[in-house]
Amino acid sequence: MAEVIIVPDSESAGALVADEIVRLVRERADAVLGLATGSTPLPVYRALTTRLEGVDVSRVRGFALDEYVGLDPAHPESYRSVITREVVEPLGLDPAFVRTPDGSPEGIEHAGADYELAIAAAGGVDLQLLGIGTDGHIGFNEPGSSFASRTRVKTLTRQTRADNARFFDTIDDVPMHCITQGLGTILTARHLVLLAFGEEKAAAIAGAVEGPVTASLPGSAIQLHEHVTVVVDEAAASAL
Ligand code: GLP
Repeated sequence: MAEVIIVPDSESAGALVADEIVRLVRERADAVLGLATGSTPLPVYRALTTRLEGVDVSRVRGFALDEYVGLDPAHPESYRSVITREVVEPLGLDPAFVRTPDGSPEGIEHAGADYELAIAAAGGVDLQLLGIGTDGHIGFNEPGSSFASRTRVKTLTRQTRADNARFFDTIDDVPMHCITQGLGTILTARHLVLLAFGEEKAAAIAGAVEGPVTASLPGSAIQLHEHVTVVVDEAAASAL
């Protein structure tokens, strides 16, 4: 059963999770962080910026959950750019130690397997940050994704493309495909930390935490893991 922590706001959530990450990095200088994109984890990254001052982060490693396919890595909304801007630069991490799946059309055939090998070679993820989509997706594992799935190419649903259209000029600019860690990959991390804020996430959180374990709500895969912390505000907790 996941531990559910209800906090007053996203800033408190950021502080709480950042403290946990700082503890981890102090304990293991080469900790492996599982990084998420979207707006939800941003308060964690902001809180980490000050908390990591004076902590040696030169050996910290990171793996992003997902990437768009066919979007130039230099595009400001590629997840490579987002992770560089929001995590690598402000926290002073070594960019060579922080990976995102390769979404380039040339590399796509081997990108999933290569990413899995890289995660395994790093010894696995110590702490995986997760947001959740309004349809219950984690990473880009849309409803119907297998619990055994590994890093692979997926087609984005219309709903997710509409949700993410705010980061692009129009919905037509949102890529159709992505490469994402699978639910099976995510479940290999040693500690899952799922965050959600706002009323629009309430149904997804209720389903993930206490609904049936079903591929129709990919976030419910967290119920198969023995070390899960869910950090939510009152609104996101309102259907629990
Ligand atoms: C995207 C990301 C997910 C994220 C979700 C929710 O689809 N691939 O990792 O959890 O959006 O985004 P937000 O946190 O902005 O609500």
